[in-house]
Amino acid sequence: MRISTLSAAFIAPALAAPTTSQASSTKVVYANSGHIYLASYDGSKFTTAVNSSFPNTDPSWLAFVPPNSLYAVNDIASNTFLYNINTNTNTIKQTTNKQGSGGVVHLEANKAGTRMLGAGYGSGKIDVWNIENGGLSLIKSITSPGPLGPDPDRQDAPHPHQTVNDPTGRYFFANDLGTDSILVIDSQNDAFNIVNRMAVVPAGSGPRHGVFYPFGAAKATHYFLLCEMGNVVISYKLNYTDNGKGIEFTTTQVLNTFGPNSQKPAGAGAGELVLSPDNKDLYLSNRLTGQATDNIAHIKLIDNGADNVQLLWINSVSSGGTGPRMFSISNDGSSLFVTNQDGALGVAAISRNATDGSLDTKFHGTISNSAFGGQGPQYIKQIQ
Ligand SMILES: *[C@@H]1O[C@H](CO)[C@@H](O)[C@H](O)[C@H]1NC(C)=O
Ligand SMILES: *[C@@H]1O[C@H](CO)[C@@H](O)[C@H](O)[C@H]1NC(C)=O
Ligand SMILES: *[C@@H]1O[C@H](CO)[C@@H](O)[C@H](O)[C@H]1NC(C)=O
Repeated sequence: MRISTLSAAFIAPALAAPTTSQASSTKVVYANSGHIYLASYDGSKFTTAVNSSFPNTDPSWLAFVPPNSLYAVNDIASNTFLYNINTNTNTIKQTTNKQGSGGVVHLEANKAGTRMLGAGYGSGKIDVWNIENGGLSLIKSITSPGPLGPDPDRQDAPHPHQTVNDPTGRYFFANDLGTDSILVIDSQNDAFNIVNRMAVVPAGSGPRHGVFYPFGAAKATHYFLLCEMGNVVISYKLNYTDNGKGIEFTTTQVLNTFGPNSQKPAGAGAGELVLSPDNKDLYLSNRLTGQATDNIAHIKLIDNGADNVQLLWINSVSSGGTGPRMFSISNDGSSLFVTNQDGALGVAAISRNATDGSLDTKFHGTISNSAFGGQGPQYIKQIQ
């Protein structure tokens, strides 16, 4: 019973028709080193209701699991935290923390809200947690196998950066920056074994974040992968197989994150990749661009039918600061919520045109980076 309730809660926002006005009840969590915040966003401003200090934590990634669980990594150690978050009483309380692998930078719950994977960038391991009934207990840690990519500095060891649950809920893809590969992890019977390892990126690209396409479907036809070091988005066509490998990939397109034929600034490192809930647009953050501010790029998804989807780079807009490590899209698709680790704006809401997916260059709702005491935020997401 509990599982089906949770599933409904996960699916509901995806099925909601996109609207142009932001519901006044939109609640977001955001975080910087040592702090987690709860705010409402009304389409023109953020009102922060909770500003909580949690010393010796670095919650660089959070995962909200309805109704009240908020999980957080600790980027500077090896524990994963569980908070109880209540949007009625405006409280965030630390309830427990458990030891896992070191340097976890991303958390993702499965579709049923019963298991959660943590990508241990620092340790090269992927933690599997039991989160049933709002709990937190470690089931196993998976070691990401090599071989390593060619960059001696960034690819000195396996560095799983993210694990993403596929639409069936059965598989997780782990993007490993250190080994230029995507691991396919099969959760069937709670085994969480690596059943396939696809080294399907140009050498030295450094896979970071990915999204399954289409959003809200029973099965994915494509996976879009953002590579941090190569500053490319790669489109893969997927094949769910019955040969024991779970899912196989075919590369269909490789696109420069700065646009076709554009110069990539030396040292640039793409950060986040987001798919709009209407499946029409992809957005990504370009970091370390050397410009006054970094940017969010817009890529149109052209669906030609018969599982032929083409990525068309449109343009980019300012992120409002520098170091947009992470950003997210509102459930109704009307706003991007962006965090910048440095520069003027720590948080900026960017309005998205529901018709053509274009991004407004004027910010709607901002929080100055001065409110973060030199430790700009790294995570923001709508939870309600
Ligand atoms: C998908 O994988 C199966 C093996 O499970 C294979 O028989 C089939 O040809 C593959 N389809 C494509 C389009 O590659
Ligand atoms: C949204 O895009 C459509 C199509 O390009 C355009 O006609 C409309 O004016 C845009 N809306 C806003 C608010 O800019
Ligand atoms: C959080 O509260 C502190 C102390 O009142 C304040 O200095 C800081 O600006 C607040 N930060 C945010 C992001 O609201």
